[in-house]
Amino acid sequence: MGSPIVLGIESSCDETGAGLVRDGRLLGQAVASSMDEHARFGGVVPEIASRAHLHALGPVIRQALDEAGLGLSDVDAVAVTTGPGLSGALQVGVAGAKSIAYALGVPLHGVHHLAGHVAADTLEHGPLPNPCVVLVVSGGHTSLLLVRDLARDPIVHLGDTLDDAAGECFDKVARVFGLPYPGGPAIDRAARVGDPRAVPFPRPLPGSYDFSFSGLKTAAARWAEGRAGRELPVADGAASLQEAVADVLTRRAMAACREYGVGTLVVVGGVAANSRVRSLAEERCRAAGIALRVPPLRLCTDNGAMIAAVGDLLVRAGAEPAPLDVSIDPSAPL
Ligand code: KG4
Ligand code: ZN
Repeated sequence: MGSPIVLGIESSCDETGAGLVRDGRLLGQAVASSMDEHARFGGVVPEIASRAHLHALGPVIRQALDEAGLGLSDVDAVAVTTGPGLSGALQVGVAGAKSIAYALGVPLHGVHHLAGHVAADTLEHGPLPNPCVVLVVSGGHTSLLLVRDLARDPIVHLGDTLDDAAGECFDKVARVFGLPYPGGPAIDRAARVGDPRAVPFPRPLPGSYDFSFSGLKTAAARWAEGRAGRELPVADGAASLQEAVADVLTRRAMAACREYGVGTLVVVGGVAANSRVRSLAEERCRAAGIALRVPPLRLCTDNGAMIAAVGDLLVRAGAEPAPLDVSIDPSAPL
């Protein structure tokens, strides 16, 4: 028998994901998103997300298996996100994963959503160097992590946002600027023709390795309100906001690499798609002699492959499986 095939399931927010991984290699994956259904509310509505997962989970697993050229009976272990995330949303994925593990008689592994984001990069660039610093930055997270051996050592949580996530800041400011949801990509597009030095937005740097974006969001809203009745120079506002966010994110990440003597920075999450976050991270890493790893966007945003990647590491490390009565943990600490 070859190495085990691990099915990963993700349903913590608005993406239903399934992925299949064997020996650190991605065999197939599929994602369904309920983002469009939340768009008119300007943010994720938990009840809508849960119903969408219920609808999508079966077809998404089928699609991932088809892409891999596998059948359900080929699955040797199941990994599922148990938290953190929306409780109703998590329950759908965990219930599905338990049923499959029970029916196939294979082990079940509970996975922390952030460990999944960290592992996503291994599917593109191979095993992570030990240690490395990982910046997980999306609509739901802004976390700076020190990662050693993902399957054996606990992840060290260096810092987090004290208020809004960076993606949330982009989404909320985009709304004030009259740009569509999700705001991150819209700000990025608008910023292309803007001047990043046009508006001196604050660079909030709270204690240690934490972040804070609510002051920046308020400053951007005030700046827009101050121009009521006149045409808003959206491109300049977007470029200046993006510059401020990219500056604080990369500044903190570089400081963590320096303090812990780490030679590799990994940036994951939806905001890793931001062109200025990428270019500034590249500039600063190059200047400091630090290797930068950013997985492709399909692995950056929430997906099941990243959960399968953690499951695969756990299975190969001989980790104890979770019991079939494992619970969800919506506010799971690392
Ligand atoms: O990882 P993700 O798909 O979902 C979670 O939030 O977990 O990330 C979505 C977030 C949204 O806030 C979106 O606005 C932001 O990532 N985003 C971007 C860009 N693309 C997506 N933010 C800035 N620039 C982008 N190009
Ligand atoms: Zn996520």
